[in-house]
Amino acid sequence: LVASLERVDQTYIMVKPDGVQRGLVGEIISRFEKKGFKLTGLKLFQCTKELAEEHYKDLKGKSFFPGLIEYITSGPVVCMAWEGVGVVASARKLIGVTNPLEAEPGTIRGDLAIQKGRNVIHGSDSPESGKREVALWFKEGELVEWEPALVPWLI
Ligand code: TYD
Repeated sequence: LVASLERVDQTYIMVKPDGVQRGLVGEIISRFEKKGFKLTGLKLFQCTKELAEEHYKDLKGKSFFPGLIEYITSGPVVCMAWEGVGVVASARKLIGVTNPLEAEPGTIRGDLAIQKGRNVIHGSDSPESGKREVALWFKEGELVEWEPALVPWLI
């Protein structure tokens, strides 16, 4: 009830190709489910170069950009939209900082990755990016509006 009075945000979460190849999809989805956020979109997807470049357009010009695009398009990714109060910042905490060697144990990157350029997961960095990225990666009919059954200790 309290949560419903606050602003519900959405975030775009993506298991990157290394996460899919290493069989980490279930583990990663599980962490967000257990936290209590609401899944509103989910698909396995082979991303094009154009989409990867649009998604990371703010990083165009960085030395690692070409390698980043090659990596993101190297195999299928798992695209997810998650919804909830404070979901963007909370997801970033669950994910951990960009460099997995510096990410805290207990975070996804801290527990599951080593290299900055192979850091298994993406999460939007602001509510505005969350909106933009969910709209970029999902078509309207792919997102599902649903109401979870009342579980008072989570809402
Ligand atoms: P960025 O948006 O800065 O990090 P985050 O994913 O934590 O929001 O960068 C996007 C991705 O680019 C990052 O996940 C991995 C890659 N990257 C590199 O390969 N090398 C780098 O030095 C940086 C900063 C990022």
